[in-house]
Amino acid sequence: MSKIKLFSGGEIPVEMHRVYTVQNIRLIPVKDRLHALDEAGNCSYNLKSEDVFIDMLTDSGCNAMSDRQSAAFHEADFAYAGGASYYRLAAKIKELFGKEYFLPVHQGRACEHMLARSFVKPGDIVPTNFHFCTILTQVRLAGGTVVEMLQDKGVTTLGEDGFKGDYDLEKLKKLLDETPAEKIPFLRIEAGTNLIGGQPISMDNINAVSKLARAHGVRVLLDMSLAMDNIHFIRVRDEKRKNMTVREITRELADAADIIYFSGRKLGFARGGGICMNSRSDFLKVRGNVTTYEGFPTFGGVSSAELEIMRVGLDDTMDPDVISQGPDFIEYMVDEFKKRGVPVVTPAGGLGCHLDADRFCAHLGREDFRGAALAAAIYIVSGARGMERGLSSELPEDSIAPFELVRLAVPRRVYTLSHIMYVIDRVTWLYQHRELIGALRWEDESIPEHSFIDFLRPVGDWQEKLAEEYMKTGLE
Ligand code: F0G
Repeated sequence: MSKIKLFSGGEIPVEMHRVYTVQNIRLIPVKDRLHALDEAGNCSYNLKSEDVFIDMLTDSGCNAMSDRQSAAFHEADFAYAGGASYYRLAAKIKELFGKEYFLPVHQGRACEHMLARSFVKPGDIVPTNFHFCTILTQVRLAGGTVVEMLQDKGVTTLGEDGFKGDYDLEKLKKLLDETPAEKIPFLRIEAGTNLIGGQPISMDNINAVSKLARAHGVRVLLDMSLAMDNIHFIRVRDEKRKNMTVREITRELADAADIIYFSGRKLGFARGGGICMNSRSDFLKVRGNVTTYEGFPTFGGVSSAELEIMRVGLDDTMDPDVISQGPDFIEYMVDEFKKRGVPVVTPAGGLGCHLDADRFCAHLGREDFRGAALAAAIYIVSGARGMERGLSSELPEDSIAPFELVRLAVPRRVYTLSHIMYVIDRVTWLYQHRELIGALRWEDESIPEHSFIDFLRPVGDWQEKLAEEYMKTGLE
C-alpha cells in the first residue's frame, strides 16, 4: 500500500490492487439492527454476517485472496497421504523460514493444542510477552502456567513507542535464572501481539529474548500469526532494518525461533495453520499428536486446496505493498480518530484500529462491560461490527483484562477507503453522544461464558434511546 499525497493537502492510503470478484453487502434499517443485536445477546460474535454492513470483527480467514491464490486452488492434490500440495507448501516454508519440518493443522489454536500436548507437563511454566486466550487455554489444559513478561510500556493504551510488545528482559532473566530449564517446555514470543491493541515487538528484543532462552537451554517458540503486521512495522519503525527486504526480515525473525507456528487464517491469507521446526525429535513428537488429533500429517485436517492457497499467500506476504495494506488503513483510522478526539490505542498497531472503551465510556464502570457495550452501540449506529477486546475475550476464570478495547479489524484487501471513512464518521457521531451508551449485564449470572461469546442484556432502554437519537439525524 502506498500513501498518496493529495494536491489539495494531506495524504491517503491507496489500494495497490484492483478488484474483479465482489460480494454484495447491505445495511439493514436501524430497527432491524436493534432486533439483531437483541437476538445476538449483545455479543458481536453472535450476529449473523448477513445483518452486518462492514464486518470488522476480525481479519481471521476473511482476507481477500489474490488472483494467484485463486488459481492455486485448482492445483490441489487431494491425496490422503503424500499429496503434492503438502510438499509444495513445505518447500515454501523451508525457503521463507529456513525450517526443515512442517506440519499443517486446522488453525492457530490447533498448533497450540499440539505443542502444549507434546511439551507441557503439569507444573510447567511458559513465559510469553503477552498471552492470547487460545494459548492460555492449551497450556492450562496441559497443567502449565503462562507467565507474562511484557514491559510496562505495553500495558497502556497511550504513548507513541513503536514496539509496545517488547519483553521485559530483566524480568525474563530473573525467571530463567530462578527456574530449572526442565520446567520451561518453551518460551513463547507473540509477534505481533493481539490483546494489547495489535502492538508489535522489536527485532532487537526478539533476538535478545532468543539468546537468553537458548543460553538457558529453553526452546524458543514464535507465534507468527500476526507476523505480517510485525514485519511491516520492523521495516518502517526500526532504523537499523529500514533497508532490509521483507524476506530478509522474515528470515531474521524465523532464525530467532526453534519452533514457529501460525494461524494460516492470518499469516498466508488462507484457512488452516502450521508448525515448523528443525529438530527431528521435536517433529516426531508433534507429528504423533497431529496424526491422532488433526489428520494425516500431510494434510493435518486442512483441505489441500487451502494448503495451495497458503503457499501462494505466504509468497504474496513478501510484497511490502501487500503487508502494508492493513497497517496503513489502521494508521489512517487512528489519525482521523485522534483529530476528532476519539480515544484510540496509540500508536497505530496491526490487526485493527483499537478504540479505548475505558476512556470512550468513562461514565460506565468495568462491571458494565463497557467494551461490549461500545461494540453494541457501534453496531446500532453503523451496522459495522467490531470486536470487544476485554473481559469477554478472556476465559471465564480470568475476570480482569488489562483494559477494555473495541477492535475495528481491517481484513486485508476487503474494504475500501470509503468503507473506512463511513465507520470513522459513525463512530465519531457516537463519541459525541457517548453518554447515551449504557451498561450491559450477563443474561444468566449462573452461566458465565467469555472466550469471546457472552449473552448480555442492556440495563434499561438505552439502546432504544440511542437508536431514536440517531434516527433524528436522518442518517440510515
Ligand atoms: N495467536 C494469535 C496471536 C492470534 O491472534 C490468534 C487468533 C491465534 C493465535 C489463534 O488462531 O484463531 O486460527 O485458532 N486470533 C483471532 C483474532 C481469533 O481474530 O484475533 P486461530
